[in-house]
Amino acid sequence: MQPDNDLAEKTILVTGASGGIGLEVARMLAEGGARVVAAVRDPQRGAAALASVSEGVEILPLDVSSLASIHTAAQDYHAKHSALDVLVNNAGVAVSGRRRCSVDGHEITWATNVLGPFALTQALLPALHAADAPRVVNVGSSAYGYGKMVWNDLEFECRRFRGGPAYASSKLALLLFTRELARREARLAANCVHPGGIATGIWRELPALVRAILMRILPPPSRGALPVVHVATAPELAHVSGRFFHGMRERDVSAAAKNDAAAAQLWDILAAQCAAQREPAPPHGPAAAAANRTGTEGRCGG
Ligand SMILES: NC(=O)c1ccc[n+]([C@@H]2O[C@H](COP(=O)([O-])OP(=O)(O)OC[C@H]3O[C@@H](n4cnc5c(N)ncnc54)[C@H](OP(=O)(O)O)[C@@H]3O)[C@@H](O)[C@H]2O)c1
Repeated sequence: MQPDNDLAEKTILVTGASGGIGLEVARMLAEGGARVVAAVRDPQRGAAALASVSEGVEILPLDVSSLASIHTAAQDYHAKHSALDVLVNNAGVAVSGRRRCSVDGHEITWATNVLGPFALTQALLPALHAADAPRVVNVGSSAYGYGKMVWNDLEFECRRFRGGPAYASSKLALLLFTRELARREARLAANCVHPGGIATGIWRELPALVRAILMRILPPPSRGALPVVHVATAPELAHVSGRFFHGMRERDVSAAAKNDAAAAQLWDILAAQCAAQREPAPPHGPAAAAANRTGTEGRCGG
């Protein structure tokens, strides 16, 4: 299926474009005529995965879980492009087992699914502002309904780490971030989309039998890409913002996901986490990350 409109003049950045849903999103958009910037953490693998796609794909090295990598990628982007029409924050992880940390010392689900999309969007705002009708598409999950904002322990430093609640809570936070972004940036169409249950690498840390069953019964990544491409390109959604799409349809969200005070509080926390990384002797860093790798040490905020 082709995207919903003429994409010839559009530049669209897709994170996590080397596999799963992101690869199919990049493929569909490029085949629809867009200039696609495929932001991938392994450029060689990304180039190989995208080799069969048309010429309109540029590879941008990016580790979404690293604030330094986001900073460098945004600088590289601004050096080459004057505007960004659509940012698709697709990259995401679901982990199990022990609590793991990013290079910055944040719990990896939080770093990849929440802080990274926030920081990348902030870093690319100048390019988004330069576009005629800019959009941000955050790839969320209906699992957000099982999430909870535990404000004094957002990154599972005090509680026993469990991957399911960490993932669900990260997707609730992504919805709140989308809501606050839409409120603050009136010219930006910022929306969140659940791609459906799809057979991708996101299930890689589940027990082998469960994973094998899911990979057999769930639809392929191309199906999951359709709603993402729809929200990214449909002309009728150009000025629709702050909404959640479950597949191709808009859906109301839970009270927790439309809590404006929570959305504002989360924004301040994420902004502070980005700022802390820029300051000398940050509380997070490789040393703190190493200390946190065992799971429960670290900050326990009240
Ligand atoms: N599949 C589903 O049923 C489902 C349902 C609801 C929501 N989603 C969401 O859909 C999005 C795409 O996931 P998927 O299902 O396509 O899973 P996937 O096959 O595991 O793909 C995830 C993509 O994210 C990339 N990624 C992970 N961590 C990254 C990092 N630190 N920096 C840069 N890229 C990173 C991966 O790159 P590497 O190849 O380098 O690991 C991969 O390209 C995620 O946000 C996920 O939460 C999926």
